[in-house]
Amino acid sequence: MTTPLVVLISGTGSTLQALLAAAREPRAPFHVAAVIADRDAAGLGFARAEGIPTEIVRLRDHPDRETWDRALAAAVAAHDPELVVLAGFMKLLGAPLLETYGGRILNTHPALLPSFPGAHGVRDALAHGVKITGATVIDVDAGVDTGRILAQAAVAVAEDDTEETLHARIKQVEQPLLVEVVRRRCLG
Ligand code: GAR
Repeated sequence: MTTPLVVLISGTGSTLQALLAAAREPRAPFHVAAVIADRDAAGLGFARAEGIPTEIVRLRDHPDRETWDRALAAAVAAHDPELVVLAGFMKLLGAPLLETYGGRILNTHPALLPSFPGAHGVRDALAHGVKITGATVIDVDAGVDTGRILAQAAVAVAEDDTEETLHARIKQVEQPLLVEVVRRRCLG
């Protein structure tokens, strides 16, 4: 049996797609046991297409943040993952997930941390005028993109880059980077 992952997403799911493709390869050391989103994320379709269980845990369906945190942690725990991967999940994790899965939660961020943390890493780097940015895979802690850095890859910023063109090039290096970190973690 390969290592079960639960993947959390909020968006288009191209990062999830990269994980799913890697999981389909012969001798892949992991499989995606479930995909959970905080909204009706387009990326859920990639999981459904493979018959992988999906669930949406919306903040607005819960009376407060703490209740949502507990519901999210319960949704993850229902699939008993060895590793939780944030693949474009745009909310901070609360104590219930961190307490249960601390040290076993990975996040990928589209900037060279500790620069440009938060929800707009690509936009912020571009606005700052950096010439080099990239992607960072971290262990998740309670802060905003403050966890231990596990891997990074650099991307040169072009004169005519927009947030979209730059983010697309970052994703090209970010996705293999994340897959490699997950693979190494699963192989111990
Ligand atoms: C990825 O670039 C990921 O690094 C970023 O969202 C994108 C998800 O793309 N995450 C963050 O910015 C977290 N702070 P996708 O929906 O196409 O997989």
